[in-house]
Amino acid sequence: MSEKTKDLRDAAPDVPWHVLRDGRRIPQLGFGTYPMDDAQAEELIPEAVWRGYRLIDTAVNYGNERGVGQGVRYSEVPREELFLASKIPGRDQGADSVRRSLEGTLERLGTDYLDLYLIHWPNPVTDRYVPTWREMLRAREEGLVRSVGVSNFLPEHLLRLERETGEMPVVNQVELHPQYQQEALRRFHEEHRILTQAWSPLGRKTDLLQNEWLAEIARRQGRTPAQVVLRWHVQSGIVPIPKSSDTGRMAENIDVFDWELTDEQMERLRMMHTGISGSGFDPAVHEEQ
Ligand SMILES: NC(=O)c1ccc[n+]([C@@H]2O[C@H](COP(=O)([O-])OP(=O)(O)OC[C@H]3O[C@@H](n4cnc5c(N)ncnc54)[C@H](OP(=O)(O)O)[C@@H]3O)[C@@H](O)[C@H]2O)c1
Repeated sequence: MSEKTKDLRDAAPDVPWHVLRDGRRIPQLGFGTYPMDDAQAEELIPEAVWRGYRLIDTAVNYGNERGVGQGVRYSEVPREELFLASKIPGRDQGADSVRRSLEGTLERLGTDYLDLYLIHWPNPVTDRYVPTWREMLRAREEGLVRSVGVSNFLPEHLLRLERETGEMPVVNQVELHPQYQQEALRRFHEEHRILTQAWSPLGRKTDLLQNEWLAEIARRQGRTPAQVVLRWHVQSGIVPIPKSSDTGRMAENIDVFDWELTDEQMERLRMMHTGISGSGFDPAVHEEQ
């Protein structure tokens, strides 16, 4: 290990972990990898890991699982200290194709197991998420994945999984940030002990980071607007997975664990909700291939 790497690792914050309903643990903040390609992921993942990130979020559809796997190995941090999550794409959903898709993911990542395996989108028009879920539960029984979850699911989809298979996911990863707070969905998650993960936690494709109230809170805290937003997620019990290709911003984004927002600042942030999604994708109709 080089001196630079050792210094970075020594200075990295220890991210606390949540305990999931299935008894497994998950870091309270992770690292997003979309839209990195294999070469970028290979270069950036070690940088993120050395700066303290343990949860790495990828997906078949990002086309970077091989680079993520290489990056993890270059980091020289033992596999069991990391938390690797990937997602099955719409085209691989269905009783006969989940296993093949999962094996491809494991081969590209160069690992025997995933810590978390998610259905990327419910694709309710194609309607194959129930048999997909059954296959994922089987893969968990066989030890190929530790925890199973979903992404972009609405309460109606989650309730159907429970009705037809007897089991709800432990994680639902959804678009979420202070301008798009998903309060009703979060209440539903709490009732069913589903952990909320936030994609686009910094509000990519929105003007969130330019918000004046946010700038004021950041100034008072001596932090950046992005740090205030990520602290809001953590303090709300949400697991954000910010993506950055810049090592300075990687370090900035993970430095949110040894300070707090006041109740008044949390309330200010709560009032920033506009209900406008940055992506414009509606899980009730969106079909991800
Ligand atoms: N499940 C799903 O359907 C789904 C959908 C979308 C995304 N995701 C996952 O969620 C992850 C995060 O979402 P996202 O990438 O859409 O959005 P995001 O993390 O909210 O925003 C990423 C953008 O913010 C910039 N940024 C990062 N840190 C910053 C900082 N401290 N200050 C200012 N700008 C900063 C990044 O630029 P730089 O890179 O230049 O820093 C990048 O342009 C993805 O990478 C992916 O893993 C999942």
